[in-house]
Amino acid sequence: MAQPYLSDIDNKAMELRAVQESPLAIRGMTVFYDQKPAIFSVDATFRKGMMTAIIGPNGAGKSTLLKAALGIVKPLAGTATIFGAPLTENRDKLAYVPQRASVDWDFPARVVDVVGMGLYSKLGLLGRYSRAHKAHVMGCLARVGMEDFAGRQIGQLSGGQQQRVFLARALAQDADLYLLDEPFAGVDAATERAIIDVLKDLRADGKTVIAVHHDLSTVTEYFDDALILNMRKVSEGTVAEAFTAEALESAYGGRLDMTGANAIPALG
Ligand SMILES: Nc1ncnc2c1ncn2[C@@H]1O[C@H](COP(=O)(O)OP(=O)(O)OP(=O)(O)O)[C@@H](O)[C@H]1O
Ligand SMILES: [Mg+2]
Repeated sequence: MAQPYLSDIDNKAMELRAVQESPLAIRGMTVFYDQKPAIFSVDATFRKGMMTAIIGPNGAGKSTLLKAALGIVKPLAGTATIFGAPLTENRDKLAYVPQRASVDWDFPARVVDVVGMGLYSKLGLLGRYSRAHKAHVMGCLARVGMEDFAGRQIGQLSGGQQQRVFLARALAQDADLYLLDEPFAGVDAATERAIIDVLKDLRADGKTVIAVHHDLSTVTEYFDDALILNMRKVSEGTVAEAFTAEALESAYGGRLDMTGANAIPALG
């Protein structure tokens, strides 16, 4: 039997619906730094209520893709929509945890203040920080096991503790879409477990989680979907569809050892 016929108009309607329904839809995203492309013409449609891993080698443009979607770097071309609308309209629906190396940890602020910053979009500039807000902040710290550190200076925490605090700040925002740049980098097994449990709770609440992720051995266990990137999009879809040996070979080239300790369960 012939394939169902789809006219150009039908295709366009499907594309529009996909963008409308997606928590984050990226189209034609192209970023150059100093005349060199970091990402080139990337399309990605993230699924609502899912956890998606963004995977690729160092320098692949993973952080750049998130920053372009967030308006932190200016793309040469391309668009990003948040729940079908431009970022400017839906900024309060998303929370972002930057890659740890990119944060200045020397700024003088207590843990409770850093997490409280997550509330600014809700309070407005002149909004009052009430007792209820404080309780919300403490609740978010408790979710990541950091309530005992509320009064500590942020610079006086270990790397894994800082990572938890930044996750608590994202939780305080009560967003629908969470973008995390390497949330598990440099944390021990207990902190990784604590963070993944929080992310899975978010998903259970219908939130969407997108995380840059380096540990190929946990992709299948942690994530529903994957986007594999190396300047261009290599693959996109469910983990079973996108996280394939061919895609990894294409993204990492000969640099990936898929035997021994780095063996990927999904790939057998
Ligand atoms: N501000 C910048 N100015 C110039 N070049 C940059 C800048 N930020 C990133 N780059 C370059 O753009 C490319 C993509 O960088 P990006 O940080 O997006 O990679 P990544 O995939 O997040 O890598 P990693 O896994 O190391 O975090 C790299 O070649 C990087 O050197
Ligand atoms: Mg990065």
